[in-house]
Amino acid sequence: MYKREGTEYRSWLQFDHIQDVTVSENYIPYLKHILLGVESPVMLSAKEELVNGISSMFSINLSESRKVEPSTIFLGTLRSHEEFQEYIDLSLELELNEDGYVIKTDENNCIFIIGKTDKGVLYGVFHFLRLIQTHRSLPTIDFIENPKNQIRMLNEWDNMDGSVERGYAGNSLFFEENRFVGDWNRIKDYARMLSSVGINAIAFNNVNVHEQETKLITPEFLPDVAKVAEIFGAYGIQTFLSINYASPIQLGGLDTADPLDEKVRQWWKDKAKEIYHYIPDFGGVLVKADSEHRPGPFTYNRTHADGSNMLAEALEPFGGIVLWRCFVYNCLQDWRDRSTDRARAAYDHFKPLDGQFHDNVVLQIKNGPMDFQVREGVSPLFGAMPNTNQVLEFQVAQEYTGQQRHLCYLIPQWKEVLDFDTYANGPGTPVKSVVDGSQFPYKYCGITAVSNSGNDENWTGHTLAQANLFGYGRLTWDPDLSSEEITEEWVEATFGTDPEVVKEIKEMLLGSWRTYENYTSPLGVGWMVNPSHHYGPNVDGYEYDVWGTYHFADWKGIGVDRTIATGTGFTGQYFQENTDLYENLDTCPDELLLFFHHVPYTHQLKSGKTVIQHIYDTHFEGVEQVEKLKERWVALESKIDSDRFKSVLERLEHQVEHSKEWRDIINTYFYRKSGIPDEQNRRIY
Ligand code: GCU
Repeated sequence: MYKREGTEYRSWLQFDHIQDVTVSENYIPYLKHILLGVESPVMLSAKEELVNGISSMFSINLSESRKVEPSTIFLGTLRSHEEFQEYIDLSLELELNEDGYVIKTDENNCIFIIGKTDKGVLYGVFHFLRLIQTHRSLPTIDFIENPKNQIRMLNEWDNMDGSVERGYAGNSLFFEENRFVGDWNRIKDYARMLSSVGINAIAFNNVNVHEQETKLITPEFLPDVAKVAEIFGAYGIQTFLSINYASPIQLGGLDTADPLDEKVRQWWKDKAKEIYHYIPDFGGVLVKADSEHRPGPFTYNRTHADGSNMLAEALEPFGGIVLWRCFVYNCLQDWRDRSTDRARAAYDHFKPLDGQFHDNVVLQIKNGPMDFQVREGVSPLFGAMPNTNQVLEFQVAQEYTGQQRHLCYLIPQWKEVLDFDTYANGPGTPVKSVVDGSQFPYKYCGITAVSNSGNDENWTGHTLAQANLFGYGRLTWDPDLSSEEITEEWVEATFGTDPEVVKEIKEMLLGSWRTYENYTSPLGVGWMVNPSHHYGPNVDGYEYDVWGTYHFADWKGIGVDRTIATGTGFTGQYFQENTDLYENLDTCPDELLLFFHHVPYTHQLKSGKTVIQHIYDTHFEGVEQVEKLKERWVALESKIDSDRFKSVLERLEHQVEHSKEWRDIINTYFYRKSGIPDEQNRRIY
């Protein structure tokens, strides 16, 4: 059983008692009363969070007030309260989007936290609490905050047997032994964490929907789904379910799931009605179809537009949406056939269908064209479908990035993706501006991600991996926040404001992705992990029972030729500027060289090193960097509580050992393959 009061469990919602007198003197004059403008489940959550947070940080119990008097914190929506309209400018309505809010103080030591809707108020309360946690000073506060993305979602890959696909933090928070766990308190605590960073949607069962999860949309389980939806709903989070495309066959006894078959269409319409009967604010469905052995419209010679539109039609009367994944490729492809390239698949399947989808269908596109590698190109689908709603999919779960046993902080990686210029509307069309809807008139858009949490005491296995979840939420709310800002906020909220602690942990996090890359797969080549579980080095490891390596290494060279001139032509899927950038060996950035080109080991990088020497050097450096990470953590011992200190240390110790294994296996492999010695004559095992 978890310790609700433990530091690991409380994640970034520590709300420790404020010891710093300047900070308490700054805030206390404002903290006497609370006045609630409207009552709704979300407003009651906002109130509970505020009252508990203030009590925990200042030992002050806010008393309820009926009017705005000095030292009152007013929580309300813009038009909720007659009296208060003299304090707030109603024209703000024009500046606030659905989830936006204003926080403002006045000369009577009142604080106004005003949302356009009640969700905005809740976000505002969490923001206000964060200001205190991070010791920001109060008197001058008057600002507006709007999330930049409309959909800010998490996908849990939880199975009803209690396991989590690619889960590295224990079992499911939702299920065990083929039913719901029933620990509603823990789900509420999870909702609090997610809402505090602005997440507003969740699909809590795996995209690979097995027989048992298929039944989630039946009366056997819908009451429990409704219960979870209610808990999330009170925190402004809308519930979605992953569904099995073949449900009409498996649940409905039909002999087909053909999207153009009238019986099938009617079946889904009836099903949607039933779901909404239990969950009136149900968000919609998430679908993985025709991929890795999942059923889909291809079986019936139909397109993905046919397939998703059928579901969209069923959900449309209730305001539901269909999140349709573009992770569609032939997993049994023979890699010797150079006319197929897994990287090309999503674009090849979906681009020709632009404009054919209903406006409540949203295509969900992984950040890269392959599969959440430590480094890969950005998916060329972003910006390529101006007439089709898009969301970007990240993976917070560290499937290929150390499985939450290694420290690998992914915010800098996601920033690179979001800032990547697609050139879709000419220069200055970064991915973030496509998925936030500012380039094309998308009705629905935003960001989603595979979650990294489970029922471990600390939620994420590695305590420092909490930063990935926090950062994901913050970045999704505002992709323009810098990695430094997000990291600092997380460290302060989680470990307090001691400058040494903040500086050290911040630097440890910020450099950790590059470090991980250094001792694992080089220059964007990807994989090199053990098949199936994807943990640990295996240079030739290949997933499926067909011919393939992911990198085509032989005695002369390595890398995947994805050029138009001599390779798979993948580079041609980008807009011209990026095609030129990647097609040409002279301009292709070093870190993606082997993703786009096959080169001899003696090829000289822009850094001046040869490919082989780069491999050796980065692998030695990577291990040294991990050793440093451990040293830095050890030096903080007296400043970190022992639960968290020990659990992180344990992980770092493993990382040191495991990074050596990576270094040795990779270096030996390439030494044997190429026969080229290390210039520095280091010992290669
Ligand atoms: C990866 C992952 C699978 C997952 C798939 C997906 O391939 O290894 O476990 O099912 O992605 O995103 O659907």
